[in-house]
Amino acid sequence: MKLAFAGAGFVGIVYGAMMAKKGNSVTIYDIDENKISALNDFCEGKKNSLPIHEEGLPTILEQAYKEGLLRFTTDSKQAISDAEVIFLTVGTPSDAQGRADVRYVNAAAHTIGKVMKEDAKYKLIVTKSTVPVGTAKRLEEIIGTYAVGKFDVASNPETLAEGKAVKDAEEPQRIIVGTESERARRILSDLYAPFFFPGEKGICFMSPESAELTKYACNTYLASQVVLTNMFANLAKRYGANWREILEAIGADPRIGKFVHPGLGFGGSCFKKDVSALCQMMKDTGAVREDYEVLERIIAQNEAQKHALNPLLKQVYGESLDGQTLAVWGLAFKKDTNDVRDAASLRVIPDLLQMGAHVRAHDPKAAKEFLKEIGAMDVDMANLEICKEKYAATEGADGLLIITEWITYRQPDFAELREKMRRRIIFDAKDLMNYQKMQEETDFSYYAIGRPDIVR
Ligand code: UGA
Repeated sequence: MKLAFAGAGFVGIVYGAMMAKKGNSVTIYDIDENKISALNDFCEGKKNSLPIHEEGLPTILEQAYKEGLLRFTTDSKQAISDAEVIFLTVGTPSDAQGRADVRYVNAAAHTIGKVMKEDAKYKLIVTKSTVPVGTAKRLEEIIGTYAVGKFDVASNPETLAEGKAVKDAEEPQRIIVGTESERARRILSDLYAPFFFPGEKGICFMSPESAELTKYACNTYLASQVVLTNMFANLAKRYGANWREILEAIGADPRIGKFVHPGLGFGGSCFKKDVSALCQMMKDTGAVREDYEVLERIIAQNEAQKHALNPLLKQVYGESLDGQTLAVWGLAFKKDTNDVRDAASLRVIPDLLQMGAHVRAHDPKAAKEFLKEIGAMDVDMANLEICKEKYAATEGADGLLIITEWITYRQPDFAELREKMRRRIIFDAKDLMNYQKMQEETDFSYYAIGRPDIVR
């Protein structure tokens, strides 16, 4: 099938590449010339200019490009005109009130409409970006003001988690499709058929409104689980209980047991944005405060959790961190990605600098992105050093903070840490170390979220 993807962001690139891998002819278009030339340069082997770090993605892109099944262009008119199905994968950032800003989605619909004014061939337009409920209907109206031929608009929200997006795209747990058109249903069934074994239940069909709401419901359930997890992990620590032991027991109940790993709250580009947008949708549809307040609390508690290491730091060093050098391992919002959007590091490091510490930070993939993001904040970075190697960051350190769960941080060489660090203290925000080993085989003080302190 001939497909176009409007928007060469994370979702457009991953799904576009995957659809090309399955044998479709895919064109990804974007108005950003730099983005398109970076992708073309990468696929032609000219430059290592892929903007996102995602396991398995480079190979799929290169292969599909070589086979002539994948193209990147700024020529939206041609891409739209050639395609039978056009996926909208443009961004829907938060606006000032927390609503999803749909200006890029609307602009994409106008561009498609203008092409369809001159071309009567049937097209299916599919929203993959997370969009407010009612968007599919609205896009139908926009495109309908131009189109001379038949068309349908369907909702097919993306379900990719960063760091394992290629796997999520290739082996989806479910595909959500909202449409009332039999033709759209047939096309999407065919398109997704190679992703499931014959007879396997794959696509959940529903109305466009249900599909749009499903995405917000999924992310809100997950976000609220993270918030509850952190609340219990904090409480466990105050009682000297151990969240890991509790987790094993609650994990045995299949109704709970997911998104129960404690940390410094959720980050990334989706949960906060989607919970905020849902909150606005509640208000817009006349819900009373008691009904939506829980959504505001999810965001507020999560924000507070990003500062959860501060009481532990004060317990160890006192109110000021003047004269202390602290190493930080992990800048990305989670492992296996170079994404730092809403990452805990963007709260933790400014806190440390503000309290007077000298900070030496490391991340395997996200250092450049972190510097760009923190550079745009009002933070004095004179006492911040970014180190290329994880042990170099611990040189002369009075403590090591681990805030992203990269595998490379999981089993550090304690002999090397002993040699490099001035004081043997670890703050583990991601419950990454083996607690028993910390207790029995090392002489480090160990402070972790959700665990009793080990003080030496
Ligand atoms: C999330 C959803 O998992 C995807 O299904 C969805 O498609 C995507 O948002 C989206 O709407 O685009 P993502 O934000 O990439 O994906 O990452 P998650 O793995 O869901 O993690 C989100 C945050 O929660 C991370 O900061 C992670 O560290 C944190 N988390 C997750 C925890 O603190 N504890 C957990 O047990 C799980």
